[in-house]
Amino acid sequence: MQIISTVAQLRARLGQACTVAFVPTMGNLHEGHLNLMRLAREHGSCVVASIFVNPLQFGPNEDFDQYPRTLDADCLKLQGLADVVFAPSVNELYPVVQTVFVDPPLIANEFCGAARPGHFRGMATVVLKLLNIVQPHVALFGKKDYQQLHIIRQMVSQLNLPVRIVGGETVRAADGLALSSRNQYLTADERCEAVFLSQVLQDMRERVMQGARDFDQLQQQAVQALTGRGWLVDYVAICNQATLQPANAASDSLVILAAARLGKTRLLDNVEITSVPDSVV
Ligand code: PAJ
Repeated sequence: MQIISTVAQLRARLGQACTVAFVPTMGNLHEGHLNLMRLAREHGSCVVASIFVNPLQFGPNEDFDQYPRTLDADCLKLQGLADVVFAPSVNELYPVVQTVFVDPPLIANEFCGAARPGHFRGMATVVLKLLNIVQPHVALFGKKDYQQLHIIRQMVSQLNLPVRIVGGETVRAADGLALSSRNQYLTADERCEAVFLSQVLQDMRERVMQGARDFDQLQQQAVQALTGRGWLVDYVAICNQATLQPANAASDSLVILAAARLGKTRLLDNVEITSVPDSVV
């Protein structure tokens, strides 16, 4: 495995590669990331991982400085999974002040975008830069960040980027909490409580499968359940999988998106409901 920190070296190295499968990350790797690397191996003969904490996608009062940077440990975890690790400095990726940005679709202003103005603009901009630098055949992203994956698919399609986007399933801890680098911000008590978010979503899923179709009511009940236990809810939204627009009773592929804060930690989760039974509508 080769660790490369400049664009020029990376381009020289990848010039020899056949099929490149690329997994962009911000590091502090966990099983969710590593699972994407394994999936990448099914799609390319050369697996490239990037590790870059992208300042453009953090707001002024967010955790950019605090975000865990663990490059050495990450590289150990990537041994045997990735062929190349691209870990540029901020200066390498942004040698001049970035004045050209990706203007993401309007959905970038909803959900996480409403809570984190400018986040998806910064995310889409770095992902486009990384795709241009690595020029992979396939790039892999986790469904854990469902809205992010949706925006990347839109960007790739609308800007005609020559790359196939593959989504990887969310990897969870044994109790159901979606793995995230930010879980380590949780105190021990908060970690026990954190699983409740995934339980609320599973409960909503079961109710939809059993025929519940009053989505507003389901959303409100979920918000109340979380708020009642001390969570600060950004959103719980039942959406169409393909568009992330609000679902209606006729939608047959849904995703329930949620983000909520527990103490200082903001947690994201979602569940897909791919075959909504229609006999009970
Ligand atoms: P990061 O949070 O490090 O995540 C890197 C990739 O791992 C993303 O595609 C994310 O969806 C995926 N991932 C994270 N946790 C996961 C889990 N529990 N199960 C499955 N996949 C998971 O997302 C980013 O970095 C950045 O926004 C990035 C795309 C790298 C651009 O800076």
